Amino acid sequence: MLLEKYKDEIEQIISRYPVRRSALLPLLNLAQREEGYVSETAMKEIARILRLTPPQVYEVVTFYTLLSLKPIGKFHVQVCRSLMCALVGSDTLLGWLQTRLGIRPGETTPDCLFTLSTVECLASCGTGPMMQINDDYYERLTEDKVDRILADLKRDGTSPLKSGPFMVPELKRAHG
Ligand code: FES
Repeated sequence: MLLEKYKDEIEQIISRYPVRRSALLPLLNLAQREEGYVSETAMKEIARILRLTPPQVYEVVTFYTLLSLKPIGKFHVQVCRSLMCALVGSDTLLGWLQTRLGIRPGETTPDCLFTLSTVECLASCGTGPMMQINDDYYERLTEDKVDRILADLKRDGTSPLKSGPFMVPELKRAHG
């Protein structure tokens, strides 16, 4: 149970917001990091914690592509297919990934390493075609770069070709 394991963290998250229900996305993110997806049990527990109904939680989970209702692979490969990326080759990128991974969008490789998804604009429109893998962005992609990224992830669990993450900006130190 989330509340048992992360009691202090959950209370700290809720305290950041004037309205309890505003903590919904951070708690869903916590649940997904814990289990690899957002289970029905977790949704019910979060609903109870935030005094929401389970359908209110469910509709948020199904709205955001970064949240999943079923177990996903260790690396969640999310390819942007919106207009600006489509104009510079997201279809070719997606086809290359499908060939290399042997799966289609919505599927996971048999070794549970990679899940492939297509998503809408990730706000990196000037550096397409691009994809997000877990919390990291990979931009200006080519077939060669994709091959290197997949090999890096299989071998090291990370890749120096990433350009993110941008979800949690780091504080910049003042120079001088
Ligand atoms: S269109 Fe792909 S990041 Fe915006």
